[in-house]
Amino acid sequence: MSFQRTCYCGELRAENIDEEAVVCGWVHRRRDHGGVIFIDLRDRTGLVQIVFNPEIVRPEQFSEAEKLRNEYVVQVKGTVRGRLPGMQNPNLATGDVELYATKLQVLNEAKTPPFVIDSHSGVDESLRLKYRYLDLRRFEMQETLALRHRVSKLIRDFLDARGFWEIETPMLTKSTPEGARDFLVPSRVQPGQFYALPQSPQLFKQLLMMGGIDRYFQIVRCFRDEDLRADRQPEFTQLDIEMAFVDRDDIMTLIEELIAFIFQETVGEQVELPLRRLAYADAMARFGSDKPDTRFGLEIQDVSDVVKDTGFRVFSETIKAGGHVRGINVAGAGSRFVRREIDELVELASTYGSKGLLWLIVTDEGGKGGITKFFDSDELSRLTAAMEAKSGDLLIFVADRAQVCADVLGRLRLYLGEKLGLIDHERWDLLWVVDWPLFEYNETEGRWEAAHHPFTAPLPEDIELLGKDPERVRAQAYDLVLNGTEVGGGSIRIHRREVQEQMFAALGLTSAEAESKFGFFLDAFDYGAPPHGGIAWGFDRLIMLLARTDSLRDVIAFPKTASAQDLMTGAPSLAMEEQLSELHIRLTPEAQKRVKPLPVSSHDG
Ligand code: AMO
Ligand code: AMP
Repeated sequence: MSFQRTCYCGELRAENIDEEAVVCGWVHRRRDHGGVIFIDLRDRTGLVQIVFNPEIVRPEQFSEAEKLRNEYVVQVKGTVRGRLPGMQNPNLATGDVELYATKLQVLNEAKTPPFVIDSHSGVDESLRLKYRYLDLRRFEMQETLALRHRVSKLIRDFLDARGFWEIETPMLTKSTPEGARDFLVPSRVQPGQFYALPQSPQLFKQLLMMGGIDRYFQIVRCFRDEDLRADRQPEFTQLDIEMAFVDRDDIMTLIEELIAFIFQETVGEQVELPLRRLAYADAMARFGSDKPDTRFGLEIQDVSDVVKDTGFRVFSETIKAGGHVRGINVAGAGSRFVRREIDELVELASTYGSKGLLWLIVTDEGGKGGITKFFDSDELSRLTAAMEAKSGDLLIFVADRAQVCADVLGRLRLYLGEKLGLIDHERWDLLWVVDWPLFEYNETEGRWEAAHHPFTAPLPEDIELLGKDPERVRAQAYDLVLNGTEVGGGSIRIHRREVQEQMFAALGLTSAEAESKFGFFLDAFDYGAPPHGGIAWGFDRLIMLLARTDSLRDVIAFPKTASAQDLMTGAPSLAMEEQLSELHIRLTPEAQKRVKPLPVSSHDG
């Protein structure tokens, strides 16, 4: 059957008046008006109004039209007419015209959908995910997927023009440590052995550089079994890039040009280059975050020096024990907040992991409330001066280790920025965080971990500190931050075997462990590894921010929920006994107890 569609619904304009047109799509809405039936027909491009007038269509066609319901799939042939004066719809691109149907063909009927395709406010998200194919019919979803497509096209065009090759890397592979758990795939032919799905193509892209590819990129799926949040999916997409014979600035410059190109071509924003660079230590001290949102102030201040000798022991003792007293001047909030709102802050601070939150309100007389009573007027005025506070401001403090101060105040800052309406959501705030430490101390496990991953190169002058003083080793790493979200991260890599071995040792790997996990990789260093470096962007996160939504689920066609389920297909689901035994897998009694018996007649899989 030939559909002979002549145009999309959303394309009809005044210049098409008197033309014949054939459109296909879904019935968006149907209205009966005194014997005339109006249909809004929808496809990917928009809506057009179709008119079934009993004086124009044949009676049997008219009675077909009377049976139309929402989401019926139809093809309509008709003549484009101008709408009568006063009847135009300025909210619709096709609002000047309507299509007078001469022929209707119902291609498929539809049950009443579980939600109206129009809007998604108020519709339970799990319902939308279960019927994702209906949810995808909404314009917002289609616009976002179109944006996603456009951005990947822009990236490919840009990188192709600069000599990059897109090369695929394996999905069934060996673990690459990016800090999450691996998804494992059991091998049927090698009993008891497992592939890991890649957390990133990190090792392969480095091996491509060792293979002489020089410039590589890939828009690639990555898999991480970690605790999920709105900005984390178990499978997500990276724009992955690697280059040989480059330094940090070469990569950062290229990435800046690419991001500026994307902003220009999508949201029409002129990004000012070069992007700002913020040292990791400054980001932590001033914003309490390694992905600072610098669209607003409320910066964190360290007042340890001012209060170290105070009689207020929470402050002085903390400082004596090597901790810090840091605070934020929440300008104006002292006169604006009621007591309950301050209590809320205190409560939030403890959920963020602080022993508490200390506060006082600045007044003309000095201060009131909270910890005011512990200070004499001299101390108060030094404290308020240090924080550039004036009457009516609320000062909040955390006294603790630097890490806790940063974390708690950083999160309170974001909360307050939102609550006080200080964040300009129209703004695009792009910056680099640079000068990262190479290691991070893992408190719970009591050992040093790679702040990025174990292949990140230290600054050349810090290599000698690797074994001695890991805390002080700085990395040649850089993260790209957009509106307080980490959209990308990368580094110059280690390209000498002995440095890579030192790095593994510093991370607590014995040489036997390093050999069994990364032997193939270490061997490659022996055959002429060029200096190289790269970066990966969270592609979904970039689209999420460009689309101005706050959930990755809005920019992925078929996403997973926070509990890593696909509500539409029902994945993950039970495996057949036969499949498991082929894979040499037996469930523990505990897992077996939880599984429901399979339906007897199931033949899928
Ligand atoms: P990293 O682990 O920082 O670096 O990942 C790069 C970017 O990927 C995004 N991202 C995620 N997006 C959605 N869901 C997730 N679960 C998720 N995890 C990470 C983030 C992050 O900035 N191989 C290195 C890159 C390199 O060194 O070149 C890597 O994967 O936006
Ligand atoms: P406490 O004397 O431990 O009951 O604490 C009294 C108040 O001080 C509580 O409301 C806590 O919120 C706060 N507080 C205690 N320790 C700290 C700290 N290290 N930093 C900030 N606030 C604290």
